[in-house]
Amino acid sequence: MKINNRLYRIGNYEFKAIGDLKRELIERGKEIIDLSIGDPNLPLHENIVNSLMKNIKKEGCNKYPPYDGEQELKKAVIKYYKEVYGVNLNMDEVVILIGSKEGISKIIPAVCDTGDSMIITDPAYPAYLNNAHLWGVVPEIVPLKREFDYLPDIKSIPKNIISKSKLFMINYPNNPTGALANEFFYKELVNICYNNNIVLCNDNAYGEIIRLGEKNISLLQFDKEKQCIEFGTMSKTYNMTGFRIAYVVGNSKVLKELLKVKAIMDSGQYIPIQLAAVEALKIEREYIYSMRKIYDIRRETAKKILKLYQIEYYDGNGAFYIWCKTPKSYSTHEFCKELMYKCNLIVTPGYVFGNLGYDYFRIALTEEKEIIEKGLKNLKKMK
Ligand SMILES: Cc1ncc(COP(=O)(O)O)c(C=O)c1O
Repeated sequence: MKINNRLYRIGNYEFKAIGDLKRELIERGKEIIDLSIGDPNLPLHENIVNSLMKNIKKEGCNKYPPYDGEQELKKAVIKYYKEVYGVNLNMDEVVILIGSKEGISKIIPAVCDTGDSMIITDPAYPAYLNNAHLWGVVPEIVPLKREFDYLPDIKSIPKNIISKSKLFMINYPNNPTGALANEFFYKELVNICYNNNIVLCNDNAYGEIIRLGEKNISLLQFDKEKQCIEFGTMSKTYNMTGFRIAYVVGNSKVLKELLKVKAIMDSGQYIPIQLAAVEALKIEREYIYSMRKIYDIRRETAKKILKLYQIEYYDGNGAFYIWCKTPKSYSTHEFCKELMYKCNLIVTPGYVFGNLGYDYFRIALTEEKEIIEKGLKNLKKMK
């Protein structure tokens, strides 16, 4: 059978492989602690549940939703951007998505032709590179390094890469490193993208998951000409990963093209889920602060144990991940495998996020503090 050649460029989805192995170990009777996937263990807010239950029964809610999203949800996103970031958006500057992963894929054919270039960082959330391959777009890789706090060193990006690329994908707060962006960085990058006709896109999936005391910032605060776009999701902030509900905001021309791709491929998220997201966005800010506090405590707990076992890590202030250096006596693959078999602990090997992740592994703080503590204390069984 003649299969699409581009799919050979895409490896098996590593998280699926990790999941398969986990199932196998559980079937063998092992008590596994899984700190690999960024799927929060926290409960749903009751307003979200109540809204969903109510609207499932509401007349008309079973119909096809509008392609660009329910008006009520788009308005709630506009209000959110105004209140949290001080950014004004119009209705044609918001599109509702079936998870931001959907938008990350569809933005590529919306902006790029086959054979065009897009800039992606290394390390990065794997969906960027995989989707570049899927759509036949050439990924131009820009390294993220510890010495630049995991921000791209803009001045060192080769000029020919800047001039030929149509899309630049960044992700702050960052998965997997936990790094945050800053005003200076955004302003500099926005300028370069303006001058080179590049659509700059920030994946702001972890926008609300920052250390208490840190300030929420959005790329769009620095995009005075409204040329950039930003993704947001209900998945991480409101523990709604399974709902598949997110949005993209920013340049209306780009969103119009994205909407074309979307209309070809799907019909929008189920209306009661969109309305549940409206309720989520209405929850008082105290809820967000208490969630940040939970992750802060988990982060501190994990860091203490990592220090105890002399595992180096990046002291990031964003997302719910800790980016750790693999101990010198192991390759990352060996280390993660031994952690699994010897310590019943699953973490994500850094190479999942790109070539520069080979020497690292990622811990997700998506379990209770006590479970994180128990899992990481098993590190004492390693060399
Ligand atoms: C950086 C980043 N973007 C997007 C997503 C996907 O989010 P969603 O559930 O909205 O598809 C993830 C999920 O882990 C992520 O880490």
